[in-house]
Amino acid sequence: MLAFQGPIQSKLPKAGTTIFSIMSQLAHAENAINLSQGFPDFPCSEELINLVHAYMKKGMNQYAPMQGIMPLRERISAKIKDLYGCDYHPEKEITITAGGTQALYTAISAWIRPGDEVIVFEPCYDSYIPAIEMNGGIPICMQLEFPTFQINHEKLRNSISAKTKMIILNTPHNPTGSVIGMEEIALLEDITKGTDIVILSDEVYEHIIFDGEKHLSISRFPNLAERSMIIFSFGKTFHVTGWKMGYCLAPERLMTEFRKIHQFMVFSANTPIQYAIAEFMNDKKNYDEVHLLYQNKRDLFANLLSGSRFKILPTHGSYFQLLQYDSITDEKDTEYAIRLTKEAGVASIPISVFYNTPVDHKLLRFCFAKTEQTLIAAAERLCKV
Ligand SMILES: Cc1ncc(COP(=O)(O)O)c(C=O)c1O
Repeated sequence: MLAFQGPIQSKLPKAGTTIFSIMSQLAHAENAINLSQGFPDFPCSEELINLVHAYMKKGMNQYAPMQGIMPLRERISAKIKDLYGCDYHPEKEITITAGGTQALYTAISAWIRPGDEVIVFEPCYDSYIPAIEMNGGIPICMQLEFPTFQINHEKLRNSISAKTKMIILNTPHNPTGSVIGMEEIALLEDITKGTDIVILSDEVYEHIIFDGEKHLSISRFPNLAERSMIIFSFGKTFHVTGWKMGYCLAPERLMTEFRKIHQFMVFSANTPIQYAIAEFMNDKKNYDEVHLLYQNKRDLFANLLSGSRFKILPTHGSYFQLLQYDSITDEKDTEYAIRLTKEAGVASIPISVFYNTPVDHKLLRFCFAKTEQTLIAAAERLCKV
């Protein structure tokens, strides 16, 4: 086809093919085990599939209400009350979205105008910075402390300015597996008190937290919840990342603005899946026991790798394991990830790509949301390195 010949001024000049696509393609081409992209290689619940099918058969195939169907919003409201002890009104304070990423983009669009500053902790999920820039905002990137990946209190205080409009949090954290603690909550309460700063809290891995730790949802803390939009993903919780279903919680004043954007972005999310998830959530263990499944996978993978030359960093939540390879080679992480895929047959993601200005701690991220068989085969190959 003949291409349009006029000038193109890219709105995202730095964006190319993401590393996730590149590594997945390389894994495929090299016949390697793909632990790069964050998605399960095991099936979701048969019951959930049957429910979606049943609701399709029942004729629930047209547009859902813009905010999402009420039974699902009611189930979410009850779950949040039960787990985090706070009230989000299903009518005004909960919106169902087409996945976590759409909810993040919508929240950023609703709030950020040209020149506004947004604090982003790095390494970070790759959609935050483009979403800020698309809305004219300025990302103020602050590195998490290595190797704990906690927030440096002093650095955060120094990053706040009169232009700070938003702070983006992510707990449990992709790509590092760290989780936020009470000291960080207290710091955030102190820093935001008396300001107009809004918090965007990405909690898509809320149910994947280990060793008996409690997920410190921002919704638990009234001083923070009053200024927060909190994002969740059914894709992560129910092993259905391809369904792109999530939701946002926010107090009414913030949610009103969120919905103004949401209605013109997607209007509403998939109808039969919403009905199916609402029913599936009636059984609490469907979400409340997900951490056990992943804790077993984390432990299996780490135990199998204990005799390898890789250093295993602790994972407190999410389904990612960081491995440090500084005792094997001093190659750049982007180069080593490619060589490891080609020579050892295991694909991972280099951590430097999660920074605006790459920082190389010689770390690779491996996704352990995989069958036992996949994890055993991958570990065997990594142990030979
Ligand atoms: C930290 C984080 N936020 C958001 C998302 C996106 O969630 P969804 O697949 O529901 O759009 C992901 C997915 O990888 C993620 O890791």
